[in-house]
Amino acid sequence: MAELDFNQIYNEDCMEGMKRLPECSVDLVITDPPFGIEFKARRTNYNRTQSRVITGYNEIDAEDYAEFTLRWMGKAHRVLKDSGSMFVFSGWNNLKDVLSAIDHCGFHTVNHIIWKYQFGVACRRRFVTSHYHCLFVCKNDKKRRFFNSARFDKNAHDKNGGSLRYQDLEDVWHIKREYWHGDQKTPTKLPRELIEKILLYSTEEGDVVLDPFLGSGQVAVVSKMLNRRCVGFEIVKEYFDFAKERLDKDLYRLKDDSPKEFAEDLPLFGDAK
Ligand SMILES: C[S@@+](CC[C@H](N)C(=O)[O-])C[C@H]1O[C@@H](n2cnc3c(N)ncnc32)[C@H](O)[C@@H]1O
Repeated sequence: MAELDFNQIYNEDCMEGMKRLPECSVDLVITDPPFGIEFKARRTNYNRTQSRVITGYNEIDAEDYAEFTLRWMGKAHRVLKDSGSMFVFSGWNNLKDVLSAIDHCGFHTVNHIIWKYQFGVACRRRFVTSHYHCLFVCKNDKKRRFFNSARFDKNAHDKNGGSLRYQDLEDVWHIKREYWHGDQKTPTKLPRELIEKILLYSTEEGDVVLDPFLGSGQVAVVSKMLNRRCVGFEIVKEYFDFAKERLDKDLYRLKDDSPKEFAEDLPLFGDAK
């Protein structure tokens, strides 16, 4: 079986793809697998123009979710270095399957982070969900690396004298989702700031990052912006093509034109907001 390039993404099922990565070869896994919630790429939500959302999202049936999670996580465990870390995003619906797979696969839980975003889908008979869970785990807690001054040093303070480093290290992260008005997009994407934060605390330049469920390719694109190598998989051809185009052209956002035109007013790996 041919081994994979650590700086390449692949249009294939990650269950097969991860078998081609050597054991203990990855420094960091960041991933946002399907949540098993009957997600449809064009459901009316997120206040967006449906026609710009690329369809085809590969969802997992709820009854298969526990087994699906065990399968991909076992493969991620094999390829992660002892000094490595993994960050897994999850909604609340199937969180129990993610937590049991973490234990079953032999990961050690470091933090249970809450990512609080700026809005959820309005509800009439229950509270609005406006957070995701992010499980920060590792194989070996003694060997795991953590660069705790990566974003703020101990002397950085806000105007009230509060420590910025302490605030940044709290386990509730208030980070806004990105709106890509007028641009082509996939239905779910993690904001750049969220990925940057994880990369800066857990890796150094040149390290290898893995995302088995690439979607729009955010993890790969932001890794490249920060000079990390990234290998990843996406099973849906349209999403893979979208991610690959962003990476090959060094463009953070693509315009929704046909044939595709790259946005001249958008910076090359510059400010994404
Ligand atoms: C929640 S999305 C990832 C979004 C991504 N984090 C982003 O920021 O764009 C999950 C992705 O996993 C893909 N997927 C589902 N099953 C897969 C599999 N077995 N192998 C690879 N990709 C898969 C889906 O098509 C979907 O694009």
